[in-house]
Amino acid sequence: MSTFVTKGPVAETQYDLFMLTVWVTLGIFIAVGGAFAFAIIKFRERPNDDRPMPSQGHGNPLVEIGLIGASILLLVIIAVPTLQGIWYTHDTPEDPESFMGAWYSGEELAEEEAENPLIIKVIGYQWWWAFEYPQLGITTANEMVIPAGKVVHLELRSFDVIHSFWLPRIAGKVDLIPGRTNSMWIQAGDNFLRWKDKQGVAGPEEESPALRADYAAYLEEEIHNYYYGQCAEYCGDSHARMHFRATVVDNEEFAEWVIDERTGHGTPDGNTWDEWYADYADNPDSLTGDLNEGLKLFMGRAKCATCHVVKGNPRALGVAGPNLTNVGSRMSIAAGWLNHRIEEDGSIDLKKQYDNFYKWIKETDVVKPGNRMWKAGGGGIGELIDENGDPALLTEDEIHKLSLYLQSLK
Ligand code: CUA
Repeated sequence: MSTFVTKGPVAETQYDLFMLTVWVTLGIFIAVGGAFAFAIIKFRERPNDDRPMPSQGHGNPLVEIGLIGASILLLVIIAVPTLQGIWYTHDTPEDPESFMGAWYSGEELAEEEAENPLIIKVIGYQWWWAFEYPQLGITTANEMVIPAGKVVHLELRSFDVIHSFWLPRIAGKVDLIPGRTNSMWIQAGDNFLRWKDKQGVAGPEEESPALRADYAAYLEEEIHNYYYGQCAEYCGDSHARMHFRATVVDNEEFAEWVIDERTGHGTPDGNTWDEWYADYADNPDSLTGDLNEGLKLFMGRAKCATCHVVKGNPRALGVAGPNLTNVGSRMSIAAGWLNHRIEEDGSIDLKKQYDNFYKWIKETDVVKPGNRMWKAGGGGIGELIDENGDPALLTEDEIHKLSLYLQSLK
């Protein structure tokens, strides 16, 4: 999560501005500190010091005007690039290479969207993130997926209190404020033109296939990655646990991911959902195996479907909590707080993933204090009751089956 390792034009602009300010203020520090140190050393009182008092000067117009002039000059040196930077990072650029029509090959895109960049609606909740892709009709949570080298326009909103979107290596920060929409743009890595400029390439070879291949290699080696983000505005009990991720991929992987998200999930046995729900209503005991048991809990006693969407499942439509489509493919759960990604190869540690699901369901109040899944005003899993009204938390076996079912959503 370093702001010094920049990947893309927005973070780079912010970094350059930061460094400019550092150099200017370092100069001031040395000039003022140097004069101060000089005076202290030269005019300090020594033993048996009989030197006369140094001449006491007041109101030297030349010095005063000079200092005012220098201050103004330094402020202007900082202010001009700051304003440029603010405008640059605020206005989503019209980059033809980033128009969705230029790189996205999926069928779902409406024609009028072809000349827009990818738009993601970011919605902050206490304490997790929803990422909606309105042009593609998909929604995911806590782990956004974006294509490398493309401008992505973000619309930032909050469901409850003020949060702040911060993806240090790529861009940040912009607040998510209840009742209004903020916007920003991000770009993981340079587009072809900017990359080419940095390489110092101009002239007739500028569109050669070899150069394009070099550019693709640059994206592959330096940009495709898994980036860490974090809510950067105090937003309540579990603010420090409100992380998110951005997976940066190439165009093909992005299109495949979109298809996966749109397709969603079938039933554990491969029957249709109508058949599954008919059995669930008439003869639930015929639905056997850990995954069916987990799904029955998901739809029934644990009440997961009240708050969570699982694409494909026609009755898992709750929108109060994170969308769980392909949650088994995510590298973390609980808004990035419980991780199961293996750093070396970027794959999922299945044992860890199971443990994380288990831990989250068992003690979500401990993992993320104050969260609504635990206490939702009479509906959270920490408030489950039996038919006599007595507390009836999920048993270990039930949590085991739910964990297996969630893990299977991939
Ligand atoms: Cu959301 Cu801090």
